[in-house]
Amino acid sequence: MDAPGEMRNPVPAGQERELVICEDAGTVARAAARIFVAAAASVLHQQNRFCVALAGGNTPRALYRLLAGDEFRPQVDWARVHFFWTDERAVPPGHADSNFSAAHSDLLSRIAVPKENIHRMQAEREDFSAAAALYERALRRYLELDAHGFPRFHLVLLGLGADGHTASLFPGASQILEAHAWVTESVSPTLGMRRMTLTLPVLNAAHRVLFLVTGGDKAQVLKTVLQASSRSPLPAQLVVVPNGSLTFLADRDAAGRIRASPPLARISQNDIL
Ligand code: 6PG
Repeated sequence: MDAPGEMRNPVPAGQERELVICEDAGTVARAAARIFVAAAASVLHQQNRFCVALAGGNTPRALYRLLAGDEFRPQVDWARVHFFWTDERAVPPGHADSNFSAAHSDLLSRIAVPKENIHRMQAEREDFSAAAALYERALRRYLELDAHGFPRFHLVLLGLGADGHTASLFPGASQILEAHAWVTESVSPTLGMRRMTLTLPVLNAAHRVLFLVTGGDKAQVLKTVLQASSRSPLPAQLVVVPNGSLTFLADRDAAGRIRASPPLARISQNDIL
C-alpha cells in the first residue's frame, strides 16, 4: 500500500481513471473541496457560470459542510454556481431521504447562492415525464452540449454503492442502457424507492467526474470497479468520461484491496489538487 495521497492508475491502460488515496474520510472531503474550488475558479475565469451535479447519499456530506465552512466558502463565487443533482429519491424536499434536503442543510442554506441557481429534481411528482422534461429544460438552458448533443457538467460528484451502483443507476437495470434520454426513472432494488437519475451519456459527457468513496465496506466494490474487467460491468464501471477527467478519491479503508501495479506517477495529493 502506498503512502496516502499517492496517485495510482491501477486500471487497464487506455482508461484515464485516477485513484487518489487519502488517509481518512475527512481528508477525502478536503481533497474534494480543493478540487471543487480549483475547478470553479478555473471555469469562472473563462465562463460566466460553473455547473455542478451533486451526489446523493452520505459520503459527500462532509464535503458539502467543508465548502460551507469559513475556510472554503470565501473561495467560490457562489452567485455564479449552478447546482444540479445526479439523482433524487421520490420524496418531497424536507424528507429525511431527500438528497436535495441534505445538500440544502449542509451547504446551500449557508452560502450566497441565488435560489434560481438551484435546480432540484422534482422526483416526487406523480407525473414523472413532466418532472423529467422540466429537468432536461434546465439542463438545456444552463449547460453547453457536447458533440453528441448531451449536456456537459463542469463537475459531477458521484458516490459508489456497495453493489456498484452510482447515482441511481443500479446493476442489471435497463436504465444503464439508456442512450438518448438525459434523465430517467429508476427504482432502488433494496428500498424499492422510485428515483430520478441522470443517465450515463450525461455523466460521461462531463468535463470532470469525481467519485468519493470511503469506508471498508466499499473496499471490494472499489477493487472490482477499478481492477476487474467484466462482460457485465457494474454501472460505476460504465462511467468513463471519454472527453474529460475521472478521479476516484478514496480513503485508506476503501482502497484497502487495491493492488497497484508499479505506480505510474508518485505525486503528492497536493500536486493533483
Ligand atoms: C443516492 C446516491 C447513491 C450513493 C451511493 C453511496 O441517492 O443514494 O446517488 O448513488 O452515492 O449509494 O451512498 P453513501 O455515500 O451513503 O455510501
